[in-house]
Amino acid sequence: MTEIIRINAESPEVEKLRVAADIIRAGGLVAFPTETVYGLGADATDAAAAKKIYAAKGRPSDNPLIIHIAAPEDAERYAHTCELYYSLARAFMPGPITVILPKKDTIPDSVTGGLDSVAVRCPSHPIASALISAAGVAIAAPSANLSGSPSPTEAQHVIADLSGRVDMIIDGGECDIGLESTIVKIDGDSLTLLRPGAVTYDALLCVCENVSIAPAVTEQLGENERPLSPGMKYRHYAPKAPLILLDGNDADIIAYMKRAQKTENCAIICYDEDANELSADRLITIGAKNDLNAQANALFGALRKVNSFDADVIYAHLPPKEGIGLALYNRMIRAAAHTIKKV
Ligand code: TXA
Ligand code: MG
Repeated sequence: MTEIIRINAESPEVEKLRVAADIIRAGGLVAFPTETVYGLGADATDAAAAKKIYAAKGRPSDNPLIIHIAAPEDAERYAHTCELYYSLARAFMPGPITVILPKKDTIPDSVTGGLDSVAVRCPSHPIASALISAAGVAIAAPSANLSGSPSPTEAQHVIADLSGRVDMIIDGGECDIGLESTIVKIDGDSLTLLRPGAVTYDALLCVCENVSIAPAVTEQLGENERPLSPGMKYRHYAPKAPLILLDGNDADIIAYMKRAQKTENCAIICYDEDANELSADRLITIGAKNDLNAQANALFGALRKVNSFDADVIYAHLPPKEGIGLALYNRMIRAAAHTIKKV
């Protein structure tokens, strides 16, 4: 049985949070909102609880979890920190960034998929933050979706995927950002960007001079290449029908979409301003062309909704790689299995 409770995101009710925190402390699973996407939480120091997360999501056990802390300095209990960690913390925490650090023994191997590093994140969402504090321990939480489907950005998505598989789902409304956190790995005085998010490459450069982008962020890895982050090798976000990303100037892309609507059983994901020129049938708009934040916010909901259309193929714009666009680009090329068509 899954209990679903509604908690006020602006001022979370203490009594309700206590019930949720008790479930975490007793080794149970609670899905909760963060500023990025919903997470599926368990006590990060409890190996058996972590295993329940993998079972509930159907997640491969070698794909490690992020541990969520209430304050940046709480990382000391679980990881070996350094100066650069605290520079990142001052600039971006609490907020949508995850930092990979060498792990301490307080974190069981089942949380890190056997790696000797651990991913640490201090979320800014009031419910997430209050829940971690009330639990009194770090909360291990991947995104609260079934493995392979888009990350949930509202409680309905979590309910659709995990109802009956977890102890509690906290409904705290829609997530602000809508794409998962930026993940960086610290190596001495350099950073590697493993997953782009709302903390952008340019923002990272303000804190650290040496930031490299892991090849898997924008490119398809060869069959025998190992990604720096295990999660990057898995099929992700893919809708039922193949998604094809169109690359070219806007007029040519619209013309292509228009033609496809007449000749193919297709669905379209496009910008708000495109809607005037296209048929409204099986069309999803995700925000104005220049509003990348709106697009980030709407993308995962769109990838879920498009499945209800029973299309044979889905077309969308290839996003730009600037700012949070890089995060959109990264999620969309994976959803499209790297299928880009020049028009
Ligand atoms: O915004 C987010 O980060 C959300 C919310 C719930 O906090 N969480 C999230 O978790 O997206 P998940 O499990 O869906 O993605 C975590 C990613 C995976 O790709 C995993 O491989 C990578 O982080 N990761 C975790 N620990 C790692 C480690 N020690 N080294 C490299 N990559 C790691
Ligand atoms: Mg995930």
